[in-house]
Amino acid sequence: MGALSSSLLPALLLVSIEAQYTGSGPCASCHPAIADRQAKSGHARALAPGAPEADWAFGSGTHATTWVRQQDPRHYLELPLSWYRQTNRKAHTPGHTSISGVLYRTFDPAGRILRCFACHSTGVPSVDAAGRISPLEPGVRCESCHGPAAAHVRAGGGKFNIENPGRYRAAAINDQCGACHRQPDASSPRWDDPWNVRHQPVYLAESSCFLNSGGKLSCLNCHNPHEALSRDTRAYAAVCSQCHAQPRHRTPVSPDCIRCHMPRVPASADLSFTNHWIGVYSPGRPLRPRR
Ligand code: HEC
Ligand code: HEC
Ligand code: HEC
Ligand code: HEC
Ligand code: HEC
Ligand code: HEC
Ligand code: HEC
Repeated sequence: MGALSSSLLPALLLVSIEAQYTGSGPCASCHPAIADRQAKSGHARALAPGAPEADWAFGSGTHATTWVRQQDPRHYLELPLSWYRQTNRKAHTPGHTSISGVLYRTFDPAGRILRCFACHSTGVPSVDAAGRISPLEPGVRCESCHGPAAAHVRAGGGKFNIENPGRYRAAAINDQCGACHRQPDASSPRWDDPWNVRHQPVYLAESSCFLNSGGKLSCLNCHNPHEALSRDTRAYAAVCSQCHAQPRHRTPVSPDCIRCHMPRVPASADLSFTNHWIGVYSPGRPLRPRR
């Protein structure tokens, strides 16, 4: 027994070292349709290298883009102006009060700048001797959600050596997506602050639809995890109809369910988010359902 386990040890070590990230490149040869669509999504483009005067562009531009550069070996600078799609203009980066931008210590105790990279890239970012932060792979790619996949690729695919979140329960899916889409601290948000609406898992979890559907409602009912955000209101209404075939309205309503039940909330002059607390809202009060 002793001899057996000591001869297995090197093999096991090898397996654990090899259970590593491989990047999204190899996936395309066997999963071409998914790879093609995913590459066009906001996820894939959530972080991109390069831009005049900056090292990195954060945000695909679906909502906005903010630029970040290394200022010196110990600091990163978030530039004061961001670009916003809704208004097609450059304006103050959220939270900035100074025109010189916000300076982050690379190793500040809260790890703020490192966390930007962690949520906007795949795997764990590294920092070299010159204080330069390098993501393993920019953007939210395959292994952000499926885990390190080198072993799956080497085995020629198959159902093993790879996570498939499609098999998780709804609450677990909302949690996995929530690793990035929720506030880092788990405290209950202030419902009167429009900036909190961007934390979709927290809001969805308050809705009667989630609470009363016996684990059938997750992000995946409405979002294809491999595609750019759909703007097709009829497709969303079709999801509502799966559970609400004949909703009772006192007066006839349009078929655009989300306009009334998932209203858009302006967070600033340049940004707005969709309220995932599905409910009945009073006109002009999109933050919280009236019941
Ligand atoms: C590793 C962090 C991370 C994880 C995990 C993650 N997301 Fe995201 N997601 C992001 C970031 C960052 C963006 C912003 C992309 C951009 O710049 O437009 C985003 C954007 C989106 C968008 C808008 C996409 C678009 O094309 O505009 C949707 C929808 C979305 N995520 C849903 C999900 C769902 C559903 C899951 C779980 C299956 C998930 N996300 C998991 C980080 C993540
Ligand atoms: C906890 C994970 C997380 C951290 C940390 C994080 N982001 Fe994001 N970021 C996201 C997600 C998720 C989205 C998509 C939000 C949405 O569309 O609802 C996003 C969106 C953005 C956008 C697009 C505009 C918008 O509001 O949708 C920019 C720009 C951005 N982030 C920059 C940054 C920068 C710069 C930092 C660090 C100072 C940072 N992010 C830290 C997860 C994170
Ligand atoms: C050499 C071909 C090949 C490569 C390369 C490959 N896969 Fe696969 N993958 C497969 C095959 C075959 C299956 C099994 C399909 C089935 O049985 O339906 C599979 C299944 C999967 C599944 C579903 C597993 C399940 O439990 O249902 C996921 C997720 C997946 N691959 C992700 C990836 C990712 C991410 C990459 C890139 C890092 C990748 N694959 C690279 C061939 C490959
Ligand atoms: C934001 C998270 C996320 C990212 C990024 C992501 N996936 Fe997935 N993937 C999922 C989820 C969730 C499912 C389960 C979907 C379902 O069952 O509805 C899934 C399912 C799959 C499957 C099996 C089911 C199917 O649809 O065939 C494959 C294969 C797969 N993904 C490959 C990839 C590849 C390749 C990439 C990168 C190009 C990738 N995924 C990127 C979340 C993600
Ligand atoms: C997985 C099933 C499911 C889906 C999908 C779903 N709902 Fe629901 N929803 C429910 C359940 C269950 C309730 C609890 C009340 C009931 O039994 O009708 C509910 C309640 C509601 C209520 C009443 C809210 C309240 O607080 O009284 C509204 C309004 C509503 N849903 C609208 C929608 C809309 C609009 C969509 C699509 C964007 C949607 N739902 C998607 C299951 C679902
Ligand atoms: C009942 C349907 C539904 C469910 C479930 C759902 N979403 Fe959404 N989501 C939407 C709609 C509708 C939009 C707005 C689409 C548009 O802009 O046209 C949206 C937009 C988004 C956006 C873009 C930013 C914004 O606020 O407009 C992100 C990111 C997102 N959802 C993430 C998630 C995550 C993460 C989950 C799971 C916790 C989730 N969604 C569950 C319907 C849904
Ligand atoms: C013009 C705004 C508007 C639109 C569009 C709309 N609703 Fe409603 N909905 C309401 C209001 C307001 C109520 C509260 C009851 C009332 O006053 O009629 C309600 C009530 C509901 C309820 C709770 C009553 C019940 O049957 O249990 C559900 C579920 C619902 N709507 C689903 C939907 C779905 C699904 C769609 C799309 C097919 C939709 N609604 C489109 C405004 C709207």
